[in-house]
Amino acid sequence: MAEIVVVGSLNLDTTARVGRLPRPGETVLGTGHATDTGGKGANQAVAAARLGRQVAMVGRVGADDDGRRIVEVLGAEGIDTGFVSVDDTAPTGMAFITVDGVGENMIVVSPGANATMSVLDVERSADLIAAAEVLLLQLEIPLEVVHHAAALCRGTVVLNPAPAAELSTGLLEVVDILVPNRTELAALTGSEPAESPSQIVEQIDLLPVGAGVVTLGADGALVRANQETTRVAAPAVDAVDATAAGDAFCAGLADALAGGATALEATRWGVRVGAVTATRAGAQSALPTRAEVEALSSNPE
Ligand code: RIB
Repeated sequence: MAEIVVVGSLNLDTTARVGRLPRPGETVLGTGHATDTGGKGANQAVAAARLGRQVAMVGRVGADDDGRRIVEVLGAEGIDTGFVSVDDTAPTGMAFITVDGVGENMIVVSPGANATMSVLDVERSADLIAAAEVLLLQLEIPLEVVHHAAALCRGTVVLNPAPAAELSTGLLEVVDILVPNRTELAALTGSEPAESPSQIVEQIDLLPVGAGVVTLGADGALVRANQETTRVAAPAVDAVDATAAGDAFCAGLADALAGGATALEATRWGVRVGAVTATRAGAQSALPTRAEVEALSSNPE
């Protein structure tokens, strides 16, 4: 049985590098492009596997070369892909990513087969989900699938509410740790993005979740648990591409939680996993091994 189960998306990413991100209606010339296996769900699964965890992925791809490539890559990472189903009515999900000269990105996801997942996918993997130490969820698959999986899990349910969406109280109530960025937190609370730690705390406290870990990019994260708030700084790195850094953070968090860490301890590890990822280009190509994260950990901040 897997320690960490991910129920989520699998995409093929095409990334163009540009000097600066285009404005609406504008064309800019890129400096190069590449493809990589991605999807927030699959990225989190691969990142957790590279940290040394037993991981299983529940998701859906199309009956095409992209889908076969993605499942093969996950299998080579030692991830159990027995519950990644193949849909012959929809193509594998794709993401179109633009990354600028300072590593900021813009992402458009065309969900394809991710959007045809149903609660049946969760029912089929119910035993796996129920037994997981940590269940990792995101929002690139239908909400009812996310909700059903969260309700089945007897371990720790971690929801990364990306891309931003409004969520039902029923779903939030079965989430142990919510991991939004400031924009996603604002969408969940119907507010403007928080501009100060106290505003972040106000917004998190509106939500009926066990704990909140709000990611702040290069500024680290803010942990709100047991009525206490702690800022966790991220190590300073030379960032080249933010793609999958948030996914790596979530996987690091899940890895530490599966090892018995508190939300705060797990966040300290997660920011390091995310920081290493931001120093490399691409999605799954950028995800580090445990040894690579530990090497960064031993550096002075
Ligand atoms: O979080 C990064 C991921 O978002 C990319 O890999 C892309 O596929 C989208 O899902």
